[in-house]
Amino acid sequence: MSIAFAKELRSYGKVKTDQLLSKWTTFKIGGAAHYIVSVSETDKIVPLIQFLEQEQVEYMILGGGSNMLVADEGFEGVIIHLKNEQFEVDGDVLVAEAGCATVAMAQESIKAGLTGFEWGVGVPGTIGGAVRGNAGAMGGEMKDCVQQVEVYLEGEVVRLGNEQCEFGYRHSAFKENEGVILRVWLKLEKSENKAGMKQALEHLQYRNKTQPQGWASTGCIFKNYQVAAGGDLEQILDSKFDIPKQFFDRGLISAGWLIDQAGMKGEQVGQAQVSEAHGNFIVNLGDATAADVRALIERVKQAVYDKFGIELEEEIQTV
Ligand code: EPU
Repeated sequence: MSIAFAKELRSYGKVKTDQLLSKWTTFKIGGAAHYIVSVSETDKIVPLIQFLEQEQVEYMILGGGSNMLVADEGFEGVIIHLKNEQFEVDGDVLVAEAGCATVAMAQESIKAGLTGFEWGVGVPGTIGGAVRGNAGAMGGEMKDCVQQVEVYLEGEVVRLGNEQCEFGYRHSAFKENEGVILRVWLKLEKSENKAGMKQALEHLQYRNKTQPQGWASTGCIFKNYQVAAGGDLEQILDSKFDIPKQFFDRGLISAGWLIDQAGMKGEQVGQAQVSEAHGNFIVNLGDATAADVRALIERVKQAVYDKFGIELEEEIQTV
């Protein structure tokens, strides 16, 4: 790419060249990217995308670098790193630019005396990424608090309400239509009591107790298995497996539990290992490659299929 191209990129944000994406992902995995543009002004995101489209250069949006597995070959085009981090609390609504850290927004909501987003304190990544994947924890999900979003979609900036986001379990319309989330409005509730901080602490303690600590990882690898009402529910209930009742009550069987029962905890390919703490996490023991992780994912899927006849589906975005 030309000098003029690099110069133009600098007008949108801070440009870094020849970066190993392993430095930009929570998994600490991923090959090189020639250009990473960190954009801190929301107004510059769309013009940057339009410039890249006009130049026919491939681009990828990067938020907090969690919930993704980047190939060892890296990425050919331009990485747009969302660093737009302004937010404000307006009554019971938290308005946040897409690059705000989810953890920080959860903390700010508690500080502002709002309730409904305490569960966000342990969720890595950015709020834009959390909306895209309908992130959730401790029974909460983004879909429960998103009021509207501002998105760059099919050449236009539009505001979409909750329904139009088509949220599902770890899913939104933006996973399919490649809409780029620019800003998010979370509708919360005013709370008179000070229970929010205590609840947030409990969430963190649960996470620390049940999920791997101290190793690079990318959050849960697989979606929990959705039990189809009236479908495989009866079949699974009748099966020889002693599946805890709590999973049926919520309509989801924990993928971590399935992997654990299939005896895959501790399983290793190269430096990638199924966490001993939680079966749905893969930890990077040092210099794991994306190829190691992919091979391990296939091994885990096969083991769960062999034991339960259930096909696990990845939750993470692969690049
Ligand atoms: N369990 C095991 N062995 C394991 C893992 C879990 O027996 O290796 C059992 C636990 O003991 C518990 C049950 O399975 O009785 C459920 O486990 P947990 O509470 O950890 O919940 P989960 O369904 O496995 C979900 C989300 C997590 C979220 C936690 C806590 C998904 C795919 N996972 O896990 O989200 O942090 O609840 O709220 O929806 C993520 O999406 O990236 C993620 C990590």
